[in-house]
Amino acid sequence: MFVDIVAFTPLSEQLPSYDVMYILNRYFDDMGTIVKKNGGDINNFVGDAFLAAFGIDDKIDSVYRCTQAALEILKDVDIKKDVFLENYNINFDVRVGIHYGEAIVGMLGNAGNQRLSIIGQSVNIASRVETANKEAETRLLISEDAFKEIEDRAEVEDFVRVKLKRSSQRSTLYEISKLKGHSLVSEEDKIFVSGMFWNKIMLSKDLKNGDKKKVNFNNEEVLLVRNNNILSAFSNLCPHMNLPLEMGQITPDNEFLCPFHDSKFCLKTGAVKKWVLTSAEWMPDEAKELTKAIKEIPLDLLPIMDKDDHIWLGLN
Ligand code: FES
Repeated sequence: MFVDIVAFTPLSEQLPSYDVMYILNRYFDDMGTIVKKNGGDINNFVGDAFLAAFGIDDKIDSVYRCTQAALEILKDVDIKKDVFLENYNINFDVRVGIHYGEAIVGMLGNAGNQRLSIIGQSVNIASRVETANKEAETRLLISEDAFKEIEDRAEVEDFVRVKLKRSSQRSTLYEISKLKGHSLVSEEDKIFVSGMFWNKIMLSKDLKNGDKKKVNFNNEEVLLVRNNNILSAFSNLCPHMNLPLEMGQITPDNEFLCPFHDSKFCLKTGAVKKWVLTSAEWMPDEAKELTKAIKEIPLDLLPIMDKDDHIWLGLN
């Protein structure tokens, strides 16, 4: 899903930079919450536009959840419109384009600055569908491939036949005004508690005292550990050299020991208790030095709770 602010450049020129930053941050914050609530992820910001992806969590019904998010975004923007007009005298609106297809998903960026990114033809098409709103004078259009996924649950306001950029064929884009029914992903698997969305992960009884379990959550492998009534969740990758932690040990002092170079982390806070003292004998001296040269990085603990006989992981 591509979401772009209508005529943002002239709009931003009307306002002091401080106000532009405030408006954008407030808008992006709320959009992020809506996308997350519907099981998506914002993968990229391009100036005032953003790209959100649904379905990389392997959950079904990604188009329905994405369209639901788009409709909630438009509703939220309608409220912002009035507020921004009154306070800043600007006409604020967005355009949304949705396409469904395969894409390349992976970590992109320079060292230390990588993030999960999504690229490929499907992404380009979603962007072109968003742009098609301009001519069609619509706010939300979805491609034929996306429409096929939800046609029995979508109310179509209108449709347009367009030649998308770089395509010789005309295709139909649908303007969706409403969704019927529910997403096929059970809503019971998600709750909103303490200002955060939580996802049901497993039965509490399946994570006994002293257990560690690897699960997939939010596109990464996460280790869940229960020890002495402390529940911890963290990425399966050791912050030292990104090697898998799953074979590591839980110590009686509530620490987690990396199986590779003996780094130890507090299970309560993630703090480093011991940092890389040894390297495997077979490693060349140069590599051993390099291993030692990496600075201390604590474990980044994820929000976790035990509630209603289930383990839940939170999304900030
Ligand atoms: S990979 Fe864990 S301490 Fe080096």
